[in-house]
Amino acid sequence: MKNFKVIFLGDVVGPAAVEYVAKNLWRLRKEYEADAAVVNGENCAQGNGIDRDGIERLISGGADIITTGNHVFKRFEAERLLEDERRVLRPANFPSCVAGAGFSIFDSERGRLLVINLLGIVGMEPLEDPFGRADKILKENEGKYDYSLIDFHAEATSEKAALAFYLDGKAGAVLGTHTHVQTADEQILPHGTAFITDVGMCGPQLSVLGVEPECIIKKLTHHTPVKFVISSNPVKIHGVVVEFDENNSKAVKIERITV
Ligand SMILES: [Fe+2]
Ligand SMILES: [Fe+2]
Repeated sequence: MKNFKVIFLGDVVGPAAVEYVAKNLWRLRKEYEADAAVVNGENCAQGNGIDRDGIERLISGGADIITTGNHVFKRFEAERLLEDERRVLRPANFPSCVAGAGFSIFDSERGRLLVINLLGIVGMEPLEDPFGRADKILKENEGKYDYSLIDFHAEATSEKAALAFYLDGKAGAVLGTHTHVQTADEQILPHGTAFITDVGMCGPQLSVLGVEPECIIKKLTHHTPVKFVISSNPVKIHGVVVEFDENNSKAVKIERITV
């Protein structure tokens, strides 16, 4: 029997990246024999945030669950979208009065995958402690899932690594997003949790984290508000494939991918 495999792609930046992911994801799923696909879509809309069109394209393109991050509520339509489309998550450590859900269990043919979306709090919004929130969700759902994956959308590399070690052996994978640059530190921790600081983005390669360099240069030299324009340069996909042992649900392999 083959192990359970999940493909996870980082922050999709802009409609051109949505199209590129939608064009390639089913092929990638086949190539890597992935049983499930999770995509961070927090910037799939033009500008940033999420929109219905981008979400629908990602789902029809092969995403089973879409995670988000700090930009999820940038557009007013997001609240409605999160209520209508339960395959789209917002970070679980937002207050409970906020629209949408922070975790979901995807029922694949070969196993149930719990996906949790969390936001870091170091250098970001002062939300609920992500460590405690992760613990609570994993515990409350015990017995309802076979494998688990956390998209930890955070700024600080230390916070991402700390959460991964904290959850080592409790969560199947702790995968970082938000900083948009793929890191080369993927590893399986001692108790069977797959970890990478950042899986990288799906967006224009020749850019500053997806944005036209001129915008960021102006922002950093003028210190005045600047409208961010997504670069129209060719898009690359970044992500990882995580393999879980079907006997004990622990991660046995994490592989970076670039397309
Ligand atoms: Fe972000
Ligand atoms: Fe992002």
